[in-house]
Amino acid sequence: MSKRRLSGSLSIVASLVFIVSTTLTGCLSSEEGTSGSTVLDPAEHDVSTIGDTEIADETRTADWLAYGRTHSEQRFSPLTDINRDTVSRLGVTWYRDLPDDVALVSTPLVVGGTLYFTGTMNIVRAVDAVTGELLWEYDPDVAGAIGSRRQVGWVHNRGLSFYKGKIFAATWDGRLIALSSTTGELLWSTQTFDTSKPLYITGAPKAFRNKVLIGNGGTEVGRARGSVTAYDADTGDEAWTFHVVPGNPADGFESPAMEMAAETWTGSWWEHGGGGNAWHGFTYDPEFNAVYVGTGNGAPWNRRIRSPGGGDNLFLCSIVALNADTGEYLWHYQTTPGETWDYNSTMDIVLADIEVDGSPIKAILHAPKNGFFYVIDRETGSLVSAEPFTRVTWATHVDLETGRPVETAGARYPEGEANVWPSPHGAHSWQAMSYNPVTGLVYLPTMHLGGRYVDSGLDPSWRAEDFVGGNGVGVWEILVPDDMPPGALQAWDPVRQEPAWTVPQAHPWNAGTLTTAGDLVFQGRYDGVFLAYDAHTGDELWSRDLGLGISAPPITYELDGTQYLALLVGYGGGYAVSFTPGLPDEGWAYGVHTRRLVTFALDGDTTLSPQPPPQLPEPLVAADFAIDEELAVRGQGLYGTYCSICHGGGAVANAMATDLRASSVPLSRGAFARVVRDGALADRAMPPFATLDDEELDALRHYLRAKAHVDAGVL
Ligand code: HEC
Repeated sequence: MSKRRLSGSLSIVASLVFIVSTTLTGCLSSEEGTSGSTVLDPAEHDVSTIGDTEIADETRTADWLAYGRTHSEQRFSPLTDINRDTVSRLGVTWYRDLPDDVALVSTPLVVGGTLYFTGTMNIVRAVDAVTGELLWEYDPDVAGAIGSRRQVGWVHNRGLSFYKGKIFAATWDGRLIALSSTTGELLWSTQTFDTSKPLYITGAPKAFRNKVLIGNGGTEVGRARGSVTAYDADTGDEAWTFHVVPGNPADGFESPAMEMAAETWTGSWWEHGGGGNAWHGFTYDPEFNAVYVGTGNGAPWNRRIRSPGGGDNLFLCSIVALNADTGEYLWHYQTTPGETWDYNSTMDIVLADIEVDGSPIKAILHAPKNGFFYVIDRETGSLVSAEPFTRVTWATHVDLETGRPVETAGARYPEGEANVWPSPHGAHSWQAMSYNPVTGLVYLPTMHLGGRYVDSGLDPSWRAEDFVGGNGVGVWEILVPDDMPPGALQAWDPVRQEPAWTVPQAHPWNAGTLTTAGDLVFQGRYDGVFLAYDAHTGDELWSRDLGLGISAPPITYELDGTQYLALLVGYGGGYAVSFTPGLPDEGWAYGVHTRRLVTFALDGDTTLSPQPPPQLPEPLVAADFAIDEELAVRGQGLYGTYCSICHGGGAVANAMATDLRASSVPLSRGAFARVVRDGALADRAMPPFATLDDEELDALRHYLRAKAHVDAGVL
């Protein structure tokens, strides 16, 4: 797959083959909104007692205690001060520049008047939620801990967890860390996976029942076997582990669930790891004392390699319900049996009490990558309904009798290639959806893209190499629709399983949503505009250009009688590594725009200092660099293997790292070796590649210079 010829449209694929990449309440009417609100005095309020009862309490409006606000993960706030009538008065109250941060995708927490958030390289900060004043900062020294293992994974992280006076963070290199929420002091730290394995963490831990759960990512970068582990919140000791896929049967099974799962695999899947890595999508359900885990895609993606005799490959691409105290398997629902397209189910798992055909249902709402919106009965794990929310061609529908998708002939690229919708980016990814019990609607950021999957000529004995990876299939093109917008904010009716309204968007990579009893939906867009919509109609009611792409979802809280909205601004995520031809170029080049935490309130009158305009990198022309084409072709392969995950496919970088076509470093052999092999920029998320020899470094330099000249139109 790295043998493509050098041409003007080199390897957009290189980055694409590495895509890692809620009730408990009854209906709240708008009028009830703030009546149950609690205004906390941080000095008096003892946060050490805030546990499951408080985290499950939908009426608490002073705080934002969990990733999705409460245990239900609805991202719905009963606050109403900011509403359809007042939202036009929304303005910035305070903001903090975060000059060293890059991609910001996380959800802040607010506990007892303090706002906590995680930034680039897992730095955790606590600020006064009213003034923005920094209270403490904890830097887990990810650069020091991760070393060259940075070759897999990402600088960004989706959030924190709070439980009884502790803040929990999970780091890129696999540590789970407990900090005192008042002082930021380190209480304990546990390594959650074997560091010889090509695994990493971008997810937020989930705290419940005095435990903290975390999984990891890695299906694209080696022989990954997914698992989640719950740790004791006080000590960091392991409480239980659930493996997502079975290991080698000869070694015995860890649990009856693994024995059952092994029946659905063929060949020597354990040699590939199998995958299923749970890198996002953890929900605790106090009503059933269950944890729902959204599981990942296969490692490798291609089932023909992974499980050559077919099979559903449990528990890939599933929601698995586990006993929260023991980790014991309760039930599962698999969204994509025998997956072969990177259609993981690690997206949000939202709990909601809804009524379908007159019957009350304790539902899970779930919109995974595969393009179907699922309503699942969480008491039994049985499927209630499933309908496509965008263009889906891998299956015609989900059979409600069997609960299984009805696949389309040819979708598994049996002839070696096929165009399939959605793309590996998914019809919906980790960008949070929200559910509003007043409108009964889910607000879902959707992506309308397809993928051209190609595995022709692939030797079935292909194996992924650890830390180098590969998927056993290439996605040679991302298909951009010509008959519909590439993205949308969709208000989805989970009962009728149809859209209530749709706001078309020019780009698919928009941020997660927040909805409130003020009849509002908030969302940030790829182009830096933060908007408020009417939750009933989708009418745009307010917007503000924040000057930098937004990838994080907003939160809201109320202190001293003022309702605030807080939002991290810093374009990022797996998609932000590169560009997709046919979609607008964002212009959020690495290092140009300042990342920020911005807070809004009614009549806020702080002026944001201006950002530079959007900027696209210009390839550098260096006429005196004599390009050796043979070396350049070799370098292209090395680049696709080691560098494109951060610097972008075809060396066209976006927001996550320097554009190496525009860099002068490759002009100098010495400087290039210092950065790439010796780790001169190791503090800045640029990993050292100690194993690359002189000739490989030269090959990379020649490729980068060649690509710069091709793109500048001088070669
Ligand atoms: C995990 C992400 C990541 C990977 C993988 C990665 N880089 Fe980087 N690289 C970065 C970041 C981030 C920077 C910018 C550091 C800074 O802020 O100075 C960078 C900077 C650089 C620079 C300096 C550019 C300049 O003008 O200052 C060079 C050269 C470079 N990388 C080459 C490579 C090569 C070659 C590879 C593959 C062998 C590679 N990088 C892989 C993240 C990465």
